Amino acid sequence: MSLAERKAIAERWAGLDEADLTALADSGLSIAEADLLIENVIGRYSLPFAVATNFRINGREILAPMVIEEASVVAGCSYAAKLFRHGGGISASADDSIMIGQIQLLDLSDMEKAIDTIMSWKDEILQKANEAGGSIVARGGGALDMEARPIRNTAVGDMLILHLHYDVCDAMGANAVNTAVEQIAPLIESLSGGRVNLRILSNLSDRRLARASGMIPRESLATDDASGAEVVKWIIEAAAFAEVDPYRAATHNKGVMNGIDALLLATGNDWRAVEAGAHAYAARSGRYTSLTKWRMDEEGNLCGEIELPLALGIVGGATRAHRGTQTALKLLGVKSASELAQIAAAVGLAQNLGAIRALATDGIQQGHMRMHARQLALAAGAEPGSARAIAHQLIDEGNIRMERALEIARDWNKQI
Ligand code: MEV
Repeated sequence: MSLAERKAIAERWAGLDEADLTALADSGLSIAEADLLIENVIGRYSLPFAVATNFRINGREILAPMVIEEASVVAGCSYAAKLFRHGGGISASADDSIMIGQIQLLDLSDMEKAIDTIMSWKDEILQKANEAGGSIVARGGGALDMEARPIRNTAVGDMLILHLHYDVCDAMGANAVNTAVEQIAPLIESLSGGRVNLRILSNLSDRRLARASGMIPRESLATDDASGAEVVKWIIEAAAFAEVDPYRAATHNKGVMNGIDALLLATGNDWRAVEAGAHAYAARSGRYTSLTKWRMDEEGNLCGEIELPLALGIVGGATRAHRGTQTALKLLGVKSASELAQIAAAVGLAQNLGAIRALATDGIQQGHMRMHARQLALAAGAEPGSARAIAHQLIDEGNIRMERALEIARDWNKQI
């Protein structure tokens, strides 16, 4: 389909209005808005906004918006979502939106006594945390519980780490949690006689996990050169490699995050926070491993699953400031942060399948180089109108290299 046809379908699908179409056409962020968002702004920076197709998640049809510069990611994700469809689609679930705020307490003369005192005042501390108020507390969220984690013999002696568990509802929640831990720090100091140093949320939000799983019938994985059973075997071998080897796990998980980050960027979420949490979660056993698991069921079909922390919001943060994120949320039709986290988990699982299926069969370079040829043509100074033709020529010549792209682009530009 042409870009215009794709856009028209998305428009009908999600009932996009004039403001959405303007946001898609014009990056969704004015220069004046950009200047309010961060410091020292001198311009704006655009990336492609695409949709991954074929997703069926918990029985619902989903078009997943993706903002990413890397070729083949959207196609790989859409293809894998189609494979999952053959097995009935992807099932997903997510925990409640519980974030962890951390308080670092030092200089305690008696660790056990400090823990007892703080815990006996838990109700008062939680109440104090909620006095900071804000829209999350107004919506029924707020501080729920506390946990004490003594850590002994660090480089600076013993320390008591207090965790505040905080329900952030449909927000990512960093601001609410950081405000709450700052609010209770003086009370913690006076109860314990200790000294508070850091007060900040943890990005290892392991009380806010999302999961997705699905099955692909063996025969759907057959290629011209290999049977479905062979491809299932090769994919499971690839997954076993990532489970045991951190060098491979890092790349395997990068493939997962290709999909998740693209969805997070589209929806205005903090992808650095999710990246940090995902990789910390992947190392929770003490050895870094893969975020997904793949196995064969009794009928020889391929089954995959993923679990990772997904602290996402559909309100607050950049979800308000950037108009494009509103369009992305509209395309998804999500009503809660938990629903968005479920879709993100499903997209991560599909993206991983797309990558390891390609790696375990044809390799990724064939498809990738086609798209790379277009990027080379653009980088060589071709106009968008001639970039496709130049890319075709590079592919036909079997010479997808910058020097050749520059030569052909020069010839084209001369003709213009
Ligand atoms: C490239 O962006 C991602 C892959 O390297 C992921 C993987 O190796 O599984 C293809």
